[in-house]
Amino acid sequence: MALQVLFIIFLYNTALCSAARDTYSVVNFGATPGGKTDSSEGFLAAWTAACGSDSPSTVYVPSGRFLVSSPTVFSGKDCKSTAITFRIDGSLVAPSDYRVLGNADTWLTFESVTGVTISGGVLDGQGAGLWACKASRGGCPGGAVTLRFTNSKNVVVSGLTSVNSQLYHIVVDGCNNAQLQGIKVSASGQSPNTDGIHVQGSTGVTILSSQLATGDDCISIGAGSANLWIENVACGPGHGISIGSLGKQFNEAGVHNVTVKTVTFTGTENGLRIKSWARPSNGYVRNVLFQHATMIDVQNPIIINQNYCPDNKGCPDKASGVRISDVTYQDIHGSSATEVAVNLDCSPKNPCTNIVLEDVNLNHRRWPARSSCAHADGSTYGVVQPSDCLN
Ligand SMILES: *[C@@H]1O[C@H](CO)[C@@H](O)[C@H](O)[C@H]1NC(C)=O
Repeated sequence: MALQVLFIIFLYNTALCSAARDTYSVVNFGATPGGKTDSSEGFLAAWTAACGSDSPSTVYVPSGRFLVSSPTVFSGKDCKSTAITFRIDGSLVAPSDYRVLGNADTWLTFESVTGVTISGGVLDGQGAGLWACKASRGGCPGGAVTLRFTNSKNVVVSGLTSVNSQLYHIVVDGCNNAQLQGIKVSASGQSPNTDGIHVQGSTGVTILSSQLATGDDCISIGAGSANLWIENVACGPGHGISIGSLGKQFNEAGVHNVTVKTVTFTGTENGLRIKSWARPSNGYVRNVLFQHATMIDVQNPIIINQNYCPDNKGCPDKASGVRISDVTYQDIHGSSATEVAVNLDCSPKNPCTNIVLEDVNLNHRRWPARSSCAHADGSTYGVVQPSDCLN
């Protein structure tokens, strides 16, 4: 009996030790809570240790505020571990002086990683100073993206909060198979270019159960996005969920197989948007399903705008080359803040084809809403209000 108990204790200790051995707390590598001491080196050293592990490993960030003053790149290039968890109980805080990171492309980058999970935590970009600079005068730095995944695969981000980014909050670029769930983004509705989540050049990205409140697009979908799934997202304030802007470049990868379902927009500038420059391009958007959306006082609930050309510069024939086809709007309801609730303004050179409106019911306060179409072909099913204007 005593022997059995001893044996169980032995097993238990072995399990504990191996778990502890592969957990690298940033405070053991020089990071200091309190928000005053730069902890960049401590974070990098803990990452390097976790990445060198032969087995699944964890970088642990305990509670407290950790100042990370340098643009920091967590590279997977020389990693042995193919399962690294970044478990964050505390906050990573950017310097309050926006000039420190203002010309860095990104504050926190994960580059060429495989099998990285970020779990929990708060990223505080302290962007308010930069927004104020941009609002009051020229000559401000562009600002840094808070968190970027680039050239990576099998990424999970779960339960992460990003507040007050200088520029975009989260960017997924050149990735394969990334799941973002339970993300909270929070920044002022007036903050410039603070997109919540931006996806581009990536395949198999899933965004689930997230609350995005910011000054630009809640989610923006750039060129080369495929097999994207967005479900259960609350957006507002913000500029909505947008495919585009696309077609600024002539040679541009297309966007295909995008599903956006069960989303709520509250007081946003747009709901479901597709946007392209009025410039020659070989880009395209196809196989998009927008399903089960609730609009609450949204300025442009359903909008395709292919005539984007700020200052009317660089758009020689005023027509977009981007081909939009097979876009379905299904069960879209609620209120429009403007009279035109459905606005399909497609390219005169490349009309939109197979646009489907099914069970759309949008009102404009006490008056009926209107729809407006140009160069848009397709069909309707069920009740569609405002009545459609498709060819
Ligand atoms: C479309 O994307 C989803 C994931 O969002 C994927 O499950 C599905 O297989 C894709 N369909 C095609 C035809 O590639």
